[in-house]
Amino acid sequence: MQAKGAYPSFTSRLAFIIAAAGSAVGLGNVWGFTYVAGANGGGGFVLIYLLALAFVAGPAFMAEMLIGRMGKASPPTALGELQASIGAKLSWPTIGWIGLVGTIMVLSFYAVIAGQAMYYGLIALQGGFAGWPEGAVVALDADFKADPLAMALWSAVFMAFTAAIVSFDIRTGIERAGKVMMPTLFVMLIGLVIYSGQTGDMGRAVDFLFGFHEINFTSRLFLEAVGQAFFTLGVGVGGIMTYGSYMGDDVKLPRATFWIVAMDLFVALAAGLAIFPLVFASGVEPTAGPGLVFLTLPIIFTEIPGGAFVAFAFFLLLTFAAVTSSISLLAPTVARMTEGRTGRPFAACLMAGTAFIASLATVYSFSDGREVYPLAALGFDGLTAFDLIREGVSNFILPLSGLAYCLIIGWALRRDDVRAALPMADGRLFTLWYMVVRIIAPLAITALFIGAVLG
Ligand code: PHE
Repeated sequence: MQAKGAYPSFTSRLAFIIAAAGSAVGLGNVWGFTYVAGANGGGGFVLIYLLALAFVAGPAFMAEMLIGRMGKASPPTALGELQASIGAKLSWPTIGWIGLVGTIMVLSFYAVIAGQAMYYGLIALQGGFAGWPEGAVVALDADFKADPLAMALWSAVFMAFTAAIVSFDIRTGIERAGKVMMPTLFVMLIGLVIYSGQTGDMGRAVDFLFGFHEINFTSRLFLEAVGQAFFTLGVGVGGIMTYGSYMGDDVKLPRATFWIVAMDLFVALAAGLAIFPLVFASGVEPTAGPGLVFLTLPIIFTEIPGGAFVAFAFFLLLTFAAVTSSISLLAPTVARMTEGRTGRPFAACLMAGTAFIASLATVYSFSDGREVYPLAALGFDGLTAFDLIREGVSNFILPLSGLAYCLIIGWALRRDDVRAALPMADGRLFTLWYMVVRIIAPLAITALFIGAVLG
C-alpha cells in the first residue's frame, strides 16, 4: 500500500497494462482503422501500418512511457526534471505543454464522435435500426448532424462521464473503469466477429484486409499509415507518459509494451473482421469513409437478424473503447493541475469543460460549418475546423512529439540511466530497441515529413 499523500500508483502490473491498453484501444481502432484501411485499399496499407507500429510508433510509445516512469510527474514537470538532471539547454517542458494542448484537441473531436456512438446505442437499446428502411438511417445521421444542439449535448454527456471517472483517485477511477470496460469490450468484440463470420462474407473480408491488392505507395499513404500507428497507440500527447508515472516499479516495460501493442493490434484487426464481412455481404463499398460506422454499418443492422441487439453491442463497444481512451486524455492536464493546490474533481471538471468548449468547433464542422474552411487563406483549403484539428494532431503533434521523446531517450539522457530505468533483462533486446529509438524511428519520422512536404 502506498502512504497517504504519496505519488499515486496503479495497484498491480496487470492494472497498469489494462489501463494502458484501454488508452490505446479507442475510436482509432474501430472508427479510424476500419475506414482508413478501407479507404486505402486494405492489405498493402495494413502491412505498412504493421511496420510503422513495430519500428516507429511502438518504440516511441515505450520511450514516452519511460519518460513518465523516470520523471514521475505530469508531462511538463517530468520533462523539466529530466532536463534539469542533465542540464540540457532547450526547454523540454515545452514538449509536454504542446502535448497537453494535443490532449484537448483529440478530446474535442473524440467527444463528438463518441457522443454520436452513445446516441446510436440508446436508439438501438430502444429497439431501433432493426427493420428500418435504408432512408431512415441516412436521415438519422443527417438529422443528428443538422442539430448542433443535440451534438453538443451528447458531447457534454461524454465529457461529463469522462470527468466523473478522472475525478476519483487513480485506483478508484481510471483503474477500475479499465478493469470493467476492457474485458467487456473484448467479449463483445469476439462475439461480433463470430456473428459476422456466420452471417457475413468472412472470406472476402480476410482477403481485403490481408491480401495484396493494387495499391499506390504514395507519401500520403505512408503519412496516413504512420499517423494511424501513432494515433492508435496514443503516442505523443503525454497520456501514456502520465500513466507511466503511475506504474509500479515491478512493471517490465518491454513486456508491457508488447502486450499493449498486441491488444491494440488485435482490437483493430478484430474490428475489421467484425465489420468488413457484413460490409461485403451487403454489397456496400468498403471505401465508405468516415461514415462507415455511422452510415454503412447501421444500414446493415437494419437488414440482419437481431439487428437492434447487434447494433447495441457495437455502439456500446465503441463507447467503452472511447471512454477508456478519453480518461487517459484528461489525465495529463489533471495531473498537471493537481501538482498545485487544485483538487482532482475541480481539475477534472475544468479541463473536461475546456474540451467540451473546444468540441464545439467539431460540432460546427459537422453541421453548419461543413463547407467552412477556416485556414483557406493560409493554403489549407478544403479542410474544416475538424479536419484541421484531427490532421494537425495526428499528423504533426503526435509524430513530432514522438520524435522528441526518441531523441530525449536515445541521445540526450545517459544510456546507463535509461538502461537502469527499464529494466530489461535481455541485453540484445535493449540494444535493438535503443538503436531503433536512436536512429530508425527518428529517421523514419524525418523522412516522412520530407516526403510529405515534397509530395
Ligand atoms: N489511442 C486512442 C485511439 O486509438 C486515441 C488516443 C490518442 C489516446 C492519444 C490517447 C492519446 O483512439
